[in-house]
Amino acid sequence: MTQPAGANRPKRLADYVGQDKLKRKLEVYIQAAKGRAQALDHVLVFGPPGLGKTTLAHIIAYEMGVGIRPTSGPAIEKPGDLAAILTNSLEEGDVLFIDEIHRLGRVAEEHLYPAMEDFRLDIVIGQGPAARSIQLPIPRFTLIGATTRPGLITQPMRSRFGIVEHLEYYSPEELATSLEKEAILQGLEISPEAAFEIGARSRGTMRIAKNLLNRVRDYAQVAGESRIYAARTQAALDQLGLDTVGLTERDKKLLETMIQKFAGGPVGLETLATAISEDALTIEDLYEPYLIQLGFMKRTSRGRVLTPLAYDHLGYAIPQDLLLE
Ligand code: ADE
Repeated sequence: MTQPAGANRPKRLADYVGQDKLKRKLEVYIQAAKGRAQALDHVLVFGPPGLGKTTLAHIIAYEMGVGIRPTSGPAIEKPGDLAAILTNSLEEGDVLFIDEIHRLGRVAEEHLYPAMEDFRLDIVIGQGPAARSIQLPIPRFTLIGATTRPGLITQPMRSRFGIVEHLEYYSPEELATSLEKEAILQGLEISPEAAFEIGARSRGTMRIAKNLLNRVRDYAQVAGESRIYAARTQAALDQLGLDTVGLTERDKKLLETMIQKFAGGPVGLETLATAISEDALTIEDLYEPYLIQLGFMKRTSRGRVLTPLAYDHLGYAIPQDLLLE
């Protein structure tokens, strides 16, 4: 009955909405690698959660005409885990997709280096003075690493990726385009205005947009409407507590705390986290990127600072000193 997550994932690069610059580059790299009958160079993709990194990895494998073996950093605990994957489940040219690659353990990471560079695995047999190392050839593969935290990727790791790219937030129009396609796949009817409304409130994030489409569908269905219209969409999204640009009550709490308690900043991350009873990492990974993208907040060397846009959006008077900047 229920659709598995990612069931409607686009298969081809041409069906992947947005990320135009990246798509144009990948088209060239893929065509060139296929022309040489070689595996694609290793790819590192970073960007906030929910922008479609996993989808892109599957598309790359599909376009290359190879298999994909998905795993994640936390799933590879021991070097043996990595050895098992590299020796058992990969064929020549296949993609090994490691999600959350920043969470790969240090030892596993070091074993990955010779695998990436020379397509061999160094295995130590025995212990103590009798221990010796043997080298096991493995298929030429393409590692696609995805991460939300590029700052946590070590330099030796990063430098072994020939292709390093980041995903951008989507515009409301791009999200709307994708939602209209998704609606067709699900047998739903949606007006262009309704699709845009969902797109505008999805924080530039594909996964949020698709989830919100499903929630709005629920509201329309319960209201007995066979087509999703803008009015029902707005009412549903209001009920979900999302404002016109997709900010949640928690985002607004953060912004209002900065205005009311810290005069708009600068305020340090830890201080801000304590003030709204939130974890600093959650603020850094989940709240801030979109607030920065909207131009509501800036990171400075002295701490976080609000911009006039944030005051304006929340209906506060813009302080004189910000107007003079
Ligand atoms: N699913 C995840 N990312 C996507 C994208 N960019 N276009 C279409 N569907 C997607």
